[in-house]
Amino acid sequence: MAQSLESIPNNVDLSSDRRLQRALEQWQPNFLSWWNEVGPEGFQAHQIYLRTAISVETDGWAHFDYVRMPEYRWGIFLEPKSDRKIGFGDNLGRPVWEEVPGEHRNALRRIIVTQADTEPASVEQQRLLGKTCPSMYDLRNIFQVNVEEGRHLWAMVYLLHRYFGRDGREEADELLARRSGTGDKPRILNTFNEPIDDWLSFFMFAMFTDRDGKYQLAALAQSGFDPLARTTRFMLTEEAHHLFVGESGVDRVVQRCGELMAAGKDPRKEHAVPLEMIQKYINFWFSLSLDLFGGEVSSNAADFFAAGLKGRFREDTLEEHKAMGETYHLEVPEDGKLVEQEVPLRNAMNEVLRDEYVKDCQRAVDRWNKTLVRAGNTGLTLSLPHRRFHRAVGPCAGCFFDLEGRLISEAEFKAHEAEWLPTAEDRAYVKSLMHPVIERGKVASWIAPPAKGINGMPGDYEYVKPPEA
Ligand SMILES: [Fe+2]
Ligand SMILES: [Fe+2]
Repeated sequence: MAQSLESIPNNVDLSSDRRLQRALEQWQPNFLSWWNEVGPEGFQAHQIYLRTAISVETDGWAHFDYVRMPEYRWGIFLEPKSDRKIGFGDNLGRPVWEEVPGEHRNALRRIIVTQADTEPASVEQQRLLGKTCPSMYDLRNIFQVNVEEGRHLWAMVYLLHRYFGRDGREEADELLARRSGTGDKPRILNTFNEPIDDWLSFFMFAMFTDRDGKYQLAALAQSGFDPLARTTRFMLTEEAHHLFVGESGVDRVVQRCGELMAAGKDPRKEHAVPLEMIQKYINFWFSLSLDLFGGEVSSNAADFFAAGLKGRFREDTLEEHKAMGETYHLEVPEDGKLVEQEVPLRNAMNEVLRDEYVKDCQRAVDRWNKTLVRAGNTGLTLSLPHRRFHRAVGPCAGCFFDLEGRLISEAEFKAHEAEWLPTAEDRAYVKSLMHPVIERGKVASWIAPPAKGINGMPGDYEYVKPPEA
C-alpha cells in the first residue's frame, strides 16, 4: 500500500539534488507511519474521491480521482519563480533571497516550524471524526482537508530539508514526533491541542482556526525569502477549500436550525442544534482563533516586518510599505480600566493582520444571517463577540470582558459564562447528535444537505467507496 519511494511528485527538480531527494525519501516512510498511526481512523482502505495536486498549472493542481488515503501522492509544489523584489520593511526593493540570509535564519526557522506544526496537528485532532460523519459528502471533505494538511506538512518539510541543513532535518523529524494534546510532546500552539470530537467543532475549526492559517500564509506569501513566499502562495489555493468546508458547514447547520424555527419547531426536539448553541460555539472558536495571531503589541512582529520576512495581508496592493512613523490605536486594559494607546504601526502588525481576519469572519456571519432570513425567520441573528472577549493571549488575557468588549469583573463573567460559552451539557448534547450517516445522498438530522456537490458531481455522488473485496 505504501507509496513507492522514488515518487515524490514535485516541481522543484528534486531529482537534480540527490542528497536532498535521499533525505526526503528517508523522511517519507516516517511520514507514512505517522499517517497510519494518527491519521483518519477506520477509512484508510476506503477509496475516496479526492483532489490531488500534480502541478501548479491551472489544469494540474486539482486532479480528481478515487484514491486510498495512504496512497495519496503528497507532493512538493512551489509557484514558479518571478523576479520579485522584497516588498516591504527596511529591505524594500532589494532582490528577494533565494537562500536563507544568515541573520534571519533563526527567525525563519521558527516561523516555518510554527506554521508546519499546525498541519499534522489538525490531522491528529480530527482523526476520529470520520466515524460520525453527517453525510458521505462531508466524509469526503474532511479527508480532503486531512490529506492536504499532510501536503502542507510536506511543503514545509521541503523548506526545512532544503534550506536549513542539519537542524532543518531535526525539526522535520520533530514534526512527526509531537502529538496533539499529549502531555510530554504536545503541539506548539495551544489551539492545536484541543480535541475536536464533534462535527460542529470541526466546522468551526475549519471556519475560524483554518482561517487564521489563511492570514498567516498570506502574510508569508509576501516574504522576502522567496521559497517560502512561493510555497505559501500555492498552499493558499488549497486552503480556500478548507475554509469553504468550514463556512458552508456552519451555514448548513444554521440553515437546518433556521428552517425548523421558521416552521415553529424546537430544534432540540428535532435533533438539530439550537441557535443559541451555535452562537456559543462561534464565541468559543472565534476567540480561541484570535489568539493565534499573537499579542496586540509585539516586537517580534515588528522585527519580522522590518526584516522583510512577514508582510501584511495583500501587502503588494498597499501604497506604502515601510510602516514607519505611523501609529496604531489600541484600547487595552490597565489597572482595572480600558486605556487608549498609540503604538508604532510596526509593533501592531499582529493586530493589523487580525483586523483583516475579523472583517472576513464578519462577512461569513452576515452570510449565515442571510441564511436565517431565507429560511423564513425575522429578527434572529448570529454575531461575533468583541475581539477582547475570552482571550488568553495579549493584554486582555487574565481580564474579563462581555460579548461587547466591556471590561467586567470575574464574578460577572462567571455569572454569564454559561450563556456565552459552550457548557459541558451543550457539548454533551452536540455529541449526542453525532451518529454516522454514510448512505449515499442521506444527511444527518442536524444539518442541511449541501447546496451542490464536489467538482460538478451531484450532492449524492458516491464520494467514498468501501474497500475493494
Ligand atoms: Fe494547511
Ligand atoms: Fe487548512
